[in-house]
Amino acid sequence: MIETQAAVLTALNEPLELTTIRVDDPEPHEVRLKVTNVGLCHSDLHYMTGSVPTGIPAVLGHEVAGVVEAVGSAVTSLQPGDRVTGALTPSCGRCSYCEAGHSTQCVRLDEVRERKRPGFETVDGQAIERLGSIGAFSQHVLMRENALVKLPDDVPLHVGCLLSCCIVTGVGAVFRGAEVRPGSTVAVIGCGGVGSAIIQGARLAGASAIVAIDLDEDRLKAARGYGATHVINAGEGDTVEELHRLLGDGVDYAFEAVGSARTAQTAFALLRPTGTACLVGIAPMGTEIPVPAMDFWYQEKRLIGSYMGSGQAREDIAQFARLYQQGRLLLDEMVTRVIPFAEINEGFEHMLSGDVTRIVVDLQS
Ligand SMILES: NC(=O)c1ccc[n+]([C@@H]2O[C@H](COP(=O)([O-])OP(=O)(O)OC[C@H]3O[C@@H](n4cnc5c(N)ncnc54)[C@H](O)[C@@H]3O)[C@@H](O)[C@H]2O)c1
Ligand SMILES: [Zn+2]
Ligand SMILES: [Zn+2]
Repeated sequence: MIETQAAVLTALNEPLELTTIRVDDPEPHEVRLKVTNVGLCHSDLHYMTGSVPTGIPAVLGHEVAGVVEAVGSAVTSLQPGDRVTGALTPSCGRCSYCEAGHSTQCVRLDEVRERKRPGFETVDGQAIERLGSIGAFSQHVLMRENALVKLPDDVPLHVGCLLSCCIVTGVGAVFRGAEVRPGSTVAVIGCGGVGSAIIQGARLAGASAIVAIDLDEDRLKAARGYGATHVINAGEGDTVEELHRLLGDGVDYAFEAVGSARTAQTAFALLRPTGTACLVGIAPMGTEIPVPAMDFWYQEKRLIGSYMGSGQAREDIAQFARLYQQGRLLLDEMVTRVIPFAEINEGFEHMLSGDVTRIVVDLQS
């Protein structure tokens, strides 16, 4: 067991508390990681505000990169000093979903994540929840060997962390989830970290039009840099009418990367007949989404969802890292600012302001 510094959620809607916690020794299939960088994802904020429930105290944070510090007795593919990022959906590799390539739906996830002792504890011995069994707002974390991917030397850790959540989620939603075809038309509602990754995925897929939709002009400007061919400010006028004015039709694919019933309905309404709406944003627990039934049978529209890129995160992350090396996937541009660990609460405030794609925390400064 070691002691380390972590930002702990002790009450909803309150700042995270920087404090000392205890980190258990790695179990046989785990490694202990010295966390260098974590991206601030809107999902962390959902737990901080209670729109998605968590036990308390909790250490949030999941968009993680770092260096392996210690390995469990059964670990074979990693060793101390390896630079890694997270493949956040650990899986058993043997259930029917894993065998079919849908490891995000592994039925043995709870079993895979089970530990004999809590991974994190307060200094007086109280167990601390870890978001996604990670808890990356901590200078050290425990992760399973199969929930990590080695990063090539020329992928810096402060951009490599994006691969583990927003990139694999967004680009994966395009290729694995919706299976966007070359030449098709795409709309993306919400141009934060995840939406920007979806825009880049659509560009890589060869979409002939990519319409970025947001409430914020700075985000829309950045979206053009990621590959958007058109932009719509959803705060000005009717988004569906504006899209039809721009393209002369609805889109083949509409992605929702905000997390609300209203934007999900808009995504569905933006489709042309036979189009697919893909929900990626996480709406508050219990949200229901009324959509016109007639659009399904009469217009043959589809409504799907995508979780963490719908695929094999380890394989996908390694491929996306190669696209970064080739200059085809822009990651440096997505890191708006790297902030010291002590400023993590201010980082969440920046996340909600306009001129940001991703805020990344440097845990070791
Ligand atoms: N499905 C998954 O696996 C998965 C993974 C990661 C994140 N998420 C979810 O995706 C969503 C986006 O995450 P993020 O980190 O990119 O968030 P973010 O805060 O970086 O970006 C959200 C964007 O939506 C815009 N927005 C807000 N309301 C809008 C509206 N009514 N119309 C148009 N745009 C609007 C904001 O201006 C911002 O640009 C969150 O709900 C997050 O929890 C899902
Ligand atoms: Zn995330
Ligand atoms: Zn499985």
